[in-house]
Amino acid sequence: MTVLVDRFGRAHHDLRISLTDRCSLRCTYCMPAEGVPWLARPSMLTTDELVRVAAVAVGLGVREIRLTGGEPLLRPDVVDVVRRLATLEGPSGPPEVSMTTNGLRMPALAGDLRAAGLARVNVSVDTLDPERFARLTRRDKLPDVLAGLAAAADAGFDPIKLNAVVMRGVNDDEVIDLVRFAVRHGYQMRFIEQMPLDAGHTWDRGEMVDQAEILERLRAAFRLTPLDGRGAAPAELWLVDDGPATVGVIASVTAPFCGSCDRLRLTADGQLRSCLFARTETDVRAVLRSGADDASIEAALRDCLAGKKAGHGIGEPGFVQPDRPMSAIGG
Ligand code: 5AD
Ligand code: SF4
Repeated sequence: MTVLVDRFGRAHHDLRISLTDRCSLRCTYCMPAEGVPWLARPSMLTTDELVRVAAVAVGLGVREIRLTGGEPLLRPDVVDVVRRLATLEGPSGPPEVSMTTNGLRMPALAGDLRAAGLARVNVSVDTLDPERFARLTRRDKLPDVLAGLAAAADAGFDPIKLNAVVMRGVNDDEVIDLVRFAVRHGYQMRFIEQMPLDAGHTWDRGEMVDQAEILERLRAAFRLTPLDGRGAAPAELWLVDDGPATVGVIASVTAPFCGSCDRLRLTADGQLRSCLFARTETDVRAVLRSGADDASIEAALRDCLAGKKAGHGIGEPGFVQPDRPMSAIGG
């Protein structure tokens, strides 16, 4: 069987699809307060188009599809998208379809998403303090996120993972409370080192709260035991007080996992990206709209992989932040 292998020998099993660049929040590490350069509607892939790219990728060995945004639940036909992706057939069966969401539309959609075959959800919760949440996301909506989490749990999603980007002077004093909250509700907490993807280009390596500091803060309250077997997963895991709860840290900057990266990305406007930080894209939308056959879509996937770099290069001389805002790349 042919598989999607790049020039460093990495086989690609994971496709991240951004369903829209629109979002109901304006997290400071992701979007500017105003003046977001939205993707033009006609440039966005239709559901038929994105399912077609996914079908070819699944045929080539992609086993995991993660839906991202912006906020993926803002796509009006998101339940239909999930259903169609979850019933694709690959060499090893249908792909696992998961989603990273801000949770705001979960109360309305959780049951339907689960019935449509969504396997897992990650919900972004950077703080449990309503005022902080309002400052950080520029929207006063923490109670809605918490209602969304409860709705996801009620619908039977398990595990539910919580993502928090840790920022100095913003929420770095909250890591213990976030773990306590997650353990109490049976969620899995994941802390993320902030990456240079903010619209304001204010990211500063020296200011960043790194994995070592996150762990040091957590050890003031918990006994942490490292778990092996990370594989291609971005998070390194620790048992919290001997388990079963775990806490994870995604140390994209200080312990990059590029060497085992198995991810490809498709943006809402039909561009294939080999990395969050790629400086080039492959225009699969043009391929789709030229009436090309599946072999040409496969060629676009391979073309994208051919340009994949060994690593993201954050912190190296010459590193340049991607031109697209994070909201138009997909997390
Ligand atoms: N650094 C790290 N993670 C980020 N995310 C968004 N922007 C950044 C950034 N600059 C993550 C958020 C969210 C997911 C969609 O992407 O945690 O959960
Ligand atoms: Fe929206 Fe997620 Fe970006 Fe926040 S991080 S603005 S929730 S897309």
